[in-house]
Amino acid sequence: MDENQSSRIVTPERQPEDRLDQTLRPRTLQDLIGQERVKENLSILIQAARQRGDPLDHVLFYGPPGLGKTTLAHVLANEMGVNIKVTSGPAIERAGDLAAILTNLRAGDILFIDEVHRLGKVVEEVLYPAMEDFALDIIIGKGPSARSIRLKLPHFTVIGATTRLALLTAPLRARFGAVYRLDFYELPAMRQIVQRAAKVLGVTADADGVDEIAQRGRGTPRVALRLLRRVRDFAQVRADGTITRLHAQKALDLLNVDALGLDDMDRRVLLTVIEKYRGGPVGLSTIAASVSEEPDTIMDVVEPYLLQLGFLERTSQGRVATLRAYEHLGIEPPKDQPRLF
Ligand SMILES: Nc1ncnc2c1ncn2[C@@H]1O[C@H](COP(=O)(O)OP(=O)(O)O)[C@@H](O)[C@H]1O
Ligand SMILES: [Mg+2]
Repeated sequence: MDENQSSRIVTPERQPEDRLDQTLRPRTLQDLIGQERVKENLSILIQAARQRGDPLDHVLFYGPPGLGKTTLAHVLANEMGVNIKVTSGPAIERAGDLAAILTNLRAGDILFIDEVHRLGKVVEEVLYPAMEDFALDIIIGKGPSARSIRLKLPHFTVIGATTRLALLTAPLRARFGAVYRLDFYELPAMRQIVQRAAKVLGVTADADGVDEIAQRGRGTPRVALRLLRRVRDFAQVRADGTITRLHAQKALDLLNVDALGLDDMDRRVLLTVIEKYRGGPVGLSTIAASVSEEPDTIMDVVEPYLLQLGFLERTSQGRVATLRAYEHLGIEPPKDQPRLF
């Protein structure tokens, strides 16, 4: 993971301290807060499979980091009462690695492949028949005497997760029977998530304190939980331990996380567009270079929330800052900028 991101308190990417979240992870569909549409679809998928006595169809989750893709994979395994084997695209380096995993699965098991868009081509080609026909083609011998034999695999389920649906190859995508997009969480769901976590952590938080953390949590459970832990520390060290709005505001202001959850990186991105490029349009790679970040990182972890807030717009010529962004930053919009949304 890159340096810049790991020093951001609001990065949606998983950080070492987030391992504590595991204890906060919902275990059943019913415990899951928000994402109502996805939950309803999944409950139908689960019930139908159970009634037929079949394994689950292959499922793909996509969306920005920190919204619950990994959590959902575990919830599905739990609801189906099956084992889950966890791996990721970059971790499966060779076709043989995948073959070893596949031959160890039992009927009904879930194979969770995180960052599934990063599977190598050769590995992907082993995965196609495995997903489609539950078959593993292996080559025995070398040269002219080499021959291929087909092993039967148990009926298992692949759950894939990706932040970048567009990078998935068409044949791989086509093998997922069910594809769900996770969206940023609405405020009421964010409040519930913070509330529930505070309870599990045994900290006292009043409704306003919870609201303040939810407001600054970028619609992302992982971020809100991290902010909650920092506010808890602040309240413990600088106050009487209870989380009130004032404590949350002070703690998060100190961390440079503003009222909407924006930090310095977000502001630098917006200021690049606004000040250096007069509001845009400006290309992603230009923005990235100007804030010393990888374009992929800007696209995966910075930009989605700014788009969600309506602070940036994507146009065919590049990114454009909106009136809202100017207002939030307290900058007077140029009068002669025709492209302002
Ligand atoms: N719907 C939800 N309700 C409650 N907590 C959630 C929910 N979704 C995610 N979380 C919390 O957020 C954390 C990050 O979710 P995770 O599944 O790891 O995200 P992703 O895999 O999409 O990056 C989890 O550890 C969990 O505690
Ligand atoms: Mg994950």
